[in-house]
Amino acid sequence: MAFLRNTWYVGAWACEITRELTPRTLLGEPVLFYRKENGEATAIGNRCPHRFAPLHLGKLVGDVVECGYHGLKFDCTGSCVENPHGDHKIPSAARVKAYPLVEQHGLVWIWMGKPELANPADIPDYSHLVDPRLKTIGDLMLQQAHYELVVDNLMDLTHVNYLHAPYQKNDDFLAAKHEVVQQGRMLDSLRSIPSTTAPPSFVPFLDDPAAPVDYWLNIRWHAPGACQLEVGVVPVGRPRAEGIRRQGTHIVTPETDTTTHYFYASSRNYLLDDPKADLETRNWQQVGFHEQDKPMLEAVQKMMGTTDLDSLKPVLLASDVAAVRVRRMMKELIKAETEPQAQPIFVLNK
Ligand code: FES
Ligand SMILES: [Fe+2]
Repeated sequence: MAFLRNTWYVGAWACEITRELTPRTLLGEPVLFYRKENGEATAIGNRCPHRFAPLHLGKLVGDVVECGYHGLKFDCTGSCVENPHGDHKIPSAARVKAYPLVEQHGLVWIWMGKPELANPADIPDYSHLVDPRLKTIGDLMLQQAHYELVVDNLMDLTHVNYLHAPYQKNDDFLAAKHEVVQQGRMLDSLRSIPSTTAPPSFVPFLDDPAAPVDYWLNIRWHAPGACQLEVGVVPVGRPRAEGIRRQGTHIVTPETDTTTHYFYASSRNYLLDDPKADLETRNWQQVGFHEQDKPMLEAVQKMMGTTDLDSLKPVLLASDVAAVRVRRMMKELIKAETEPQAQPIFVLNK
């Protein structure tokens, strides 16, 4: 299945990239991350063009990677800069890819398409990850499922009432006012539930857990897989700015056709220095993402036996509206990229 290529993906959390050679497969391509001596993150292809040794099995010498098999050296532009054999001439095919990279707000964004089209201004804003008014806890995981299944899971939040019931169940949730708004390559799915009971995950942090609250869940998807989920509660009738809320980072990058990197974090605006609240966040991330979403998505992928959802003619429910719109937008974007004469029917915001 084709992936959208001329777009920014998250390749890693910034803290993962060090002076160690760090391999990661993205969109089926072997990529090698490392940091240069000046601290800049960099990414080149991880497959030596000589006998295809993974370059991460070699070593970093200054800013140059030495292949661990026969010693060709590659710099951060992907060029071979040293051939220790024979007349030391460097064959013109001795090069690996170099990927445009931007480190921003604790994330390393990588461009998997034509380098000349990479524009850092197109990277979605994740500044909440480094906002000192919020406390962020996050991690990453690998899901054995096609990335669109992971995005579906985020864009149809009705699953929280079932799969995550102990943490998130809210009796008024399924009847919530739901709006889906598209802006260029973004889609917002907005839910508000006035005067309801607080979902269990907020209860320990409320002065009066029995008092009704206004509850909202807004998720913004930015093609191809960057989502932000804001969830909050506030005493009934009060402005949302007075509420307690969590800004969720949920970023999905295909590893292969059937496996997906999932970068997640939660940034809360309450109890910033409270280790108990940190632990509570880690616990629900472990339970919610690792023990509930992951096994379900992996079981779905296995049960489907294909990555082509449409071929199975799934039953459509009203709650699928945002997920279906996202899939349609992705189809159009991929088509516009692979068949340049085709243009997405929606208006791009650039
Ligand atoms: S495989 Fe890399 S130098 Fe031979
Ligand atoms: Fe979930």
